[in-house]
Amino acid sequence: RAIAQIRAQVGKGRVICGLYGGVDSSVVAALLHEAIGEQLTCVLVDHGLMRLGETEQVVKVFRDRFNVKLVARDASDLFLGKLAGETDPEKKRKTIGATFIDVFEEEAKKIGGADFLAQGTLYPDVIESATPESKSAAKIKTHHNVGGLPADLAFRLVEPLRYLFKDEARAVGSALGLPDDIVWRDPFPGPGLAVRILGEVTAEKTAVLREADAIFVGEIKQAGLYRGLGQVFAVLTNARSTGVQGDYRTYGHVVALRAITTDDYMTADWARLPYDVLARAANRIVNEVPQVNRVVYDITSKPPATVEWE
Ligand code: XMP
Repeated sequence: RAIAQIRAQVGKGRVICGLYGGVDSSVVAALLHEAIGEQLTCVLVDHGLMRLGETEQVVKVFRDRFNVKLVARDASDLFLGKLAGETDPEKKRKTIGATFIDVFEEEAKKIGGADFLAQGTLYPDVIESATPESKSAAKIKTHHNVGGLPADLAFRLVEPLRYLFKDEARAVGSALGLPDDIVWRDPFPGPGLAVRILGEVTAEKTAVLREADAIFVGEIKQAGLYRGLGQVFAVLTNARSTGVQGDYRTYGHVVALRAITTDDYMTADWARLPYDVLARAANRIVNEVPQVNRVVYDITSKPPATVEWE
């Protein structure tokens, strides 16, 4: 039915869809591809703040397996340049949001524009923005949504998931043949690793965090715990600590691990992970990521802490 509805709405029009590697945008892209094939172009703006291997995986799945028309723009140098010297979390978010829109628009123009923009809006987002008393919630959402709609872009919207909850969107994704890795992926913030690197974002810090994060998430998956958790990730704190390696003292990065359980992300509890899983992750991080010599586990709930560290 969704496919028939998309065809009826779009007709012979051209559709552009931003791919961010998240569940919702991936399901929308797969669904549109099924419905309208060549009329769809996906645009992936890589801000250089994705997790390890994430961009490559999305490109591989959509371009190679689904054969979707996909423009992937590596804009990591541009984003890093704009973020240089910036330490204020809100300014970092704004810089990333604005740069993202600029690059997306540029790419949209290059492919000759489109009639429609596809978005992964889900039913809870629709309800949230429809009720007057949730105005502040809606504001938080927009602020959170880096791929937010540039107001002056002349697109009509296609939102095929707007009557679905997250679990239903996941079921659609699986039915369309998206791999489990994408369908069951944790929510990932639009500004990406930038809100998990405290202080200034640099290429070196991004590389360190990527490695540490992949090890932690890998251990959680290995232990069969991933799907039961709301979010699992590593944070690169801006603290340095003294350590010892052989005969030498080191002065390295401190990595924090965060794993939460939650129903709605408005409140969250820290996950009581088994000690041996934490031990394995910490051990591997200090052994495999030479710049890190200390790992801590975040045992704070939301509120008062937020899920992200910035
Ligand atoms: P917080 O840190 O506010 O996170 O407790 C709640 C949920 O929102 C996500 N989050 C963001 N998502 N852009 C986004 O698209 C952002 O700037 C942003 N900040 C937080 C966070 O990952 C969690 O799922």
